[in-house]
Amino acid sequence: MQEFNAVQQVIEEYKINIVPSYRKFPVVVDHAEGSYLWDTDGKRYLDFTGGIAVNVLGHAHLATRNALAQQAAKIIHCSNLFYHLPALKLAQKIVGHIGRGKVFFSNSGAEANECLFKVARRYGEKTGRFEILSFEDSFHGRTLAGIAATGQHKVKKDFGPLCPGFRTIAKGDVKDFLNSLSDNTVALIVEPIQGESGIHIFSPGYLLEIRRICKERDILFFIDEIQSGIWRTGHFLAWQSLVSTVIEKQSVFPDGVSLAKGLGGGFPIGVSWISESYSDILEEGSHGSTFGGSPLACAVALAVIEEIEKNDLGRHVFEIGNYLLCSLKIFENKPNSLLKEIRGIGGMIGLELAVPSFNAAENLIKKGLLVAPASGNTIRLLPPLNVSLEEAEEARNILEDFLLSKL
Ligand SMILES: Cc1ncc(COP(=O)(O)O)c(C=O)c1O
Repeated sequence: MQEFNAVQQVIEEYKINIVPSYRKFPVVVDHAEGSYLWDTDGKRYLDFTGGIAVNVLGHAHLATRNALAQQAAKIIHCSNLFYHLPALKLAQKIVGHIGRGKVFFSNSGAEANECLFKVARRYGEKTGRFEILSFEDSFHGRTLAGIAATGQHKVKKDFGPLCPGFRTIAKGDVKDFLNSLSDNTVALIVEPIQGESGIHIFSPGYLLEIRRICKERDILFFIDEIQSGIWRTGHFLAWQSLVSTVIEKQSVFPDGVSLAKGLGGGFPIGVSWISESYSDILEEGSHGSTFGGSPLACAVALAVIEEIEKNDLGRHVFEIGNYLLCSLKIFENKPNSLLKEIRGIGGMIGLELAVPSFNAAENLIKKGLLVAPASGNTIRLLPPLNVSLEEAEEARNILEDFLLSKL
């Protein structure tokens, strides 16, 4: 980690000029390539933070750079008053990977969820229902509706009065779920693998049951794939990885999906996919975004998707993830090991530790590995989908050294 005054100077200037809402590590980033990132001192880090599940192709990938440069030379932005082919091609790709429906483009995950919430409110309007349910420990964004939906107290704290019509419910028990529904409930939003709270995976059986109940009760079933989507767990969406058979996939098939993070490989873009039955609820004039779905954002996202497809990176990251999971599992609950539990699928792995996550991440950064802290004592490994086996071995060795150390 950088130690000299230049770093301290940047930190001090940040304090003067930038709102202090993020807890940061004392690293001043200079540049990055592939799975590696360099600070302004020239120190190299293996980047398993992946921009928090964003940099799916690693840093400075040629496909992303070419798409950016070529589209920027043609047209960057034109407003949503006009049609353009990058938006159409990207929409067709996403619909092809999820199923029949339509998409709305925005710029971030929180906005992608906002759009789904607005679909729910409009749908409920006709029947006098408005309530949107979410699960404890979930994370759905930092806007006022996003924090109202998020199932973590620390995210909502001191921002009251919260946006009305949202309720957080307990997860895991079907009976509890049934009891928590009310006559006002119009929608449920689920993160199939909860990321920010520390990689908590919903069981396929539970997902199937709550989906069935939602269908029975005419409750819209939304899946937040903002962190878990874009082949991070092997399939395009994590729920597709969690349920195995075609029949199960048809049974869980959602009414809405939100995507962002990895979709643009680092370029901001959010997408809300809405299934066929509800995809015209947001009629002309009812929703919008100045920047949403610009030619540049769509062209880059399309190039990212095509690169992942061409190289079958979903399968690749699933196998690399298996290697990491198996080779780190041996440190679980061993005397002298800091690892309490390891959870995950593919390139979405959580290590629950005996020490706070931020301290652990700080220690790993000193050893040259960047990881993303999650709530409590869990650190996340969110490498690029094209991470090599050698890079995974390097990360594993640094982690072994850390797990057997005394922090
Ligand atoms: C599951 C989930 N939903 C929503 C969001 C919000 O996305 P954004 O930060 O792009 O608004 C995040 C971000 O971490 C997320 O992980």
